[in-house]
Amino acid sequence: MSLRLLIVYTTTGGNTRETAELAAEGASSVGGVEVDLYNAYGLDASILLEGDAILVGEPTWGDGEHHADFLPMDRSMGELLAPEKRLTGIPAAAFVGCDRAYRNFGRAIELVEDRLMECGALIVQRGLKIELTHNDHSRVFTRQWAHDFVLRAKGEMPPQPHRPAMTREQADAIKGVSLADRERRNQSGLRHS
Ligand SMILES: Cc1cc2nc3c(=O)[nH]c(=O)nc-3n(C[C@H](O)[C@H](O)[C@H](O)COP(=O)(O)O)c2cc1C
Repeated sequence: MSLRLLIVYTTTGGNTRETAELAAEGASSVGGVEVDLYNAYGLDASILLEGDAILVGEPTWGDGEHHADFLPMDRSMGELLAPEKRLTGIPAAAFVGCDRAYRNFGRAIELVEDRLMECGALIVQRGLKIELTHNDHSRVFTRQWAHDFVLRAKGEMPPQPHRPAMTREQADAIKGVSLADRERRNQSGLRHS
C-alpha cells in the first residue's frame, strides 16, 4: 500500500529544518512512501488534507509557546480543520526544537499534538524533542523515529502512547548524552553538544 506523508515545519536557525529533512529520509526508507516536505510559513492548513499521514514540527518559542512562524498554520488549523474534525483518522506525530535553559522544555509538543487531536488526527507516536543542534546520535534516532512512524501509520507497528512528553533525560538519550556526561557538562557550564 502506498502512503503519502506530509511533513510541515517551521524554523529560524535551521535545527528544526534538519529534523524535518532527517525525518523525510527515514520515512523514505520504507517502501511505497512518498514524502512531501513543506515550510509551513505562508501556507494554510488545507495542505494537511493532502496527506495520508502527517508530521508537524516547530521550535518551541517564547515561554513554551508556538514558534512565531507557526502561528498562522496553528490558527488556520483551528479555523479550517477543527470544526469538522477534517483530519479524522489521519495518523500524526509532532517534533520540536527545545533548550533546557528555558522553563517550559519543548512544550510546543503538547501544543501541536493538542491542535492535531482537535482536528481529529490520531497521535500514533511519541513526539520528538531535539535539543538545540543535532549530533550524529540524534540524526540516527530521528531517521528511525520517522521510519517507525510510517510503519505505525501503515498499521504495521502498534501505536505508541504519546504522553507524557519526553523529559530532559529522554532528550539527552536521543543525543547519546549519559547522566555522567550531563553532570560533567553542568559542572563545566557547557550546554551545546
Ligand atoms: C526566543 C526563543 C525562545 C525560546 N523558547 C524556548 C522555550 O520556551 N522552551 C524550549 O524548550 N526552548 C526554547 N527555545 C529554544 C529553541 O526551541 C531551540 O533553540 C531550537 O533548536 C531552535 O530551532 P531552529 O534552529 O529550528 O529555529 C527558544 C529559543 C528562542 C530563540
